[in-house]
Amino acid sequence: MRDPIFRTRITELFGIRHPILGGGLMWLSDAAYVAGIVNAGGMAFLTPRSFPEDGAFAAELERCRALTGGKPFGVNLNISKVAASNRSVIEWLDLALRAGVRHFETAGNAPGDMIARIHAGGGVVIHKCPLLRHALNAEREGADAVAIVGMEAGGHPGPAELPTMLAGALAARRLRVPLAIGGGIGTGGQILAALAVGADAVVIGSRFLAAQEVWAHPAYKARVVAADERASVVAFGGNTPMGGAWRVMDNATAREVRRREAAGAATHDAFADIIRGTESRDGCYRGGDPERGMLSLGAAAVFTEAVEPLEAIIDQLIDEAGAARRRIDGLAVEA
Ligand SMILES: Cc1cc2nc3c(=O)[nH]c(=O)nc-3n(C[C@H](O)[C@H](O)[C@H](O)COP(=O)(O)O)c2cc1C
Repeated sequence: MRDPIFRTRITELFGIRHPILGGGLMWLSDAAYVAGIVNAGGMAFLTPRSFPEDGAFAAELERCRALTGGKPFGVNLNISKVAASNRSVIEWLDLALRAGVRHFETAGNAPGDMIARIHAGGGVVIHKCPLLRHALNAEREGADAVAIVGMEAGGHPGPAELPTMLAGALAARRLRVPLAIGGGIGTGGQILAALAVGADAVVIGSRFLAAQEVWAHPAYKARVVAADERASVVAFGGNTPMGGAWRVMDNATAREVRRREAAGAATHDAFADIIRGTESRDGCYRGGDPERGMLSLGAAAVFTEAVEPLEAIIDQLIDEAGAARRRIDGLAVEA
C-alpha cells in the first residue's frame, strides 16, 4: 500500500489514505472486492441487493469485517422511486449500522429520509447523482459529501448528458460539501485532473472490474481486459420512453435491446426477458458467457491491461497521480 500523497476533505471524512472510492457494483461488490480496496487505502461499498438470500448480506458484512481487519468499510444503498421498495433498503441500513458500518454511498431518488436515518445511526453519507440540481438537493438535505457521475460512467448514469470533467468542474464551483467525481476515470493523471478542478476524490467502477478479487468468471474478465474504446454502449438513452440511460458492454444482449428500441419497444415488459439482473449474474458472471446480460460497463475499462490485485491497481493509480503532479510542477515558469 502506498503512503498518502493527497489529503482532501474526503480522505478526512472517510479516514482513508487515498482519495479513491470504489462505487457499489451490483452482483460484484462483495466482501473480497470491498476489502481489496479498503486494504489498499481507499473506501468501497457493499451492495446489499446482490445478496438476495436471507442472512447472506449479514454474513457478507461479517466476512468484510474479517477481511479488513476492523478497518472501516462502506455499504451502498440504492433508493427506489417506489417507496414500498425502500422497506428492504431501510432494513439493510439498520443491519449495517448494527454491524458497525458508518460509511454509506446512497444513489437514487430523494435521499433526504435515508440521509436522516444514516445520521441518526451515527453514519456519514456520500450521495451519488448525475446532475448538479440533484447534488444541490442532496447538499440541502444534509449529505456529508456528494459524488457527481458523468455520461462516461458504467451502469446507470441517469439522465447525465455531460461528461465527467465538465459536470465535475461545474459541481465544484457550486457545492460547498466535499465532492467526488466519477465516470471514465482509469488513470492517475485523471485523478490529479479531478483534484485540480476542485474534487476531493474520485469514484471508480469500471477500472476495477477485472481485478483478481472480483469473483466473476475468467471469460468475463478476459473480455474486460480486451475492451477497446468502443467496448461500451448506452441503451435506453435519449428520449426513448424507457428513459434512464444504461452504459453496458457492447454484447449480443445490448445489441438486441437497441434493436427492440429502434423497432419501437417502449415498455419494461418488452425487454424483461433479456434485461433482468439474474441474466447477467447467471449467464455471464457465473456462467462465463459475456454475450449474455446487460453488463454495466464504462468506457474506462479500456485502461485495464491485465487481471491484477486491487492493491496493484490502486498503487499504480497513486504512482501515476504523483507523476502527473510532478509533470505539472515541471511545467511551471520560474518567476
Ligand atoms: C458492473 C457495475 C455495477 C454497478 N452497480 C451499481 C450499483 O448497484 N449501485 C450504484 O450506486 N452504482 C453502481 N454502479 C456505478 C458505480 O458505482 C460507479 O458510480 C461507476 O462505475 C463510475 O463510473 P466508471 O464505471 O466509469 O468508473 C455500477 C457500475 C458498474 C460498472
